[in-house]
Amino acid sequence: MNNPVLSCEGISKSYEEAGQPIHILKSVALSVSPGERVAIIGSSGSGKSTLLNILGGLDTPDEGSVSVLGQSLYTVSERQRSRLRNQSLGFVYQFHHLLHEFTALENVAMPLLIAGQSSRLAAERASALLERVGLSHRVRHKPSQLSGGERQRVAIARALVTEPACVLMDEPTGNLDRHTAADVQSYLDELNRTLDTAFVIVTHDMQLAERMGRAMELVDGVLTDRGT
Ligand SMILES: Nc1ncnc2c1ncn2[C@@H]1O[C@H](COP(=O)(O)OP(=O)(O)O)[C@@H](O)[C@H]1O
Ligand SMILES: [Mg+2]
Repeated sequence: MNNPVLSCEGISKSYEEAGQPIHILKSVALSVSPGERVAIIGSSGSGKSTLLNILGGLDTPDEGSVSVLGQSLYTVSERQRSRLRNQSLGFVYQFHHLLHEFTALENVAMPLLIAGQSSRLAAERASALLERVGLSHRVRHKPSQLSGGERQRVAIARALVTEPACVLMDEPTGNLDRHTAADVQSYLDELNRTLDTAFVIVTHDMQLAERMGRAMELVDGVLTDRGT
């Protein structure tokens, strides 16, 4: 069996509400193999985003451990954690979070520049990725000049440009109409097939969940397998 690209064990998280703890996650475990696609579904407020943020090193669990490529995410220094995150993980959010003063090409090149790549190489790789998501004619456009689906495809290209082992997506099609969502889904399928990047996708969209290899459901803080 392949070593997991991302795994967690015994993840618990609670928030205090009016002096009472609310248990959002109860001993959640998940293991994601290289290239695997996992959908996490659950009703609004069930803790999907909280779990995704913990998996991505953006929020600390009360208990439990997370490993990225066998390296523990929460027992290392903040600096090592951000390095592990930048090298091995990518993120796509419901609202694209693109930098509006930069072009599509510059947005996609940004993670490579931050990682210390030359601007020429970064621009080359960014434009290759934008071509993969069908946006070679939009590289010089700024986010405000793009449609919702185009922006989300730029965000996906940006998440994949560093060739991370795993990309975490929080409702990547949640803000799109059905037709545009289907379009973004087919690009995700294509990228997953050809890049061997694992995807963990939090979604309300049952159509998207059904296209993933495995669906997990979060109910009352417990994550269970819904099968493939
Ligand atoms: N920082 C926080 N402080 C207090 N409660 C929070 C915080 N973040 C999330 N919650 C609560 O945790 C629950 C799960 O939130 P979230 O993970 O965003 O759910 P989902 O993404 O499934 O809709 C919600 O009830 C939310 O109000
Ligand atoms: Mg959420």
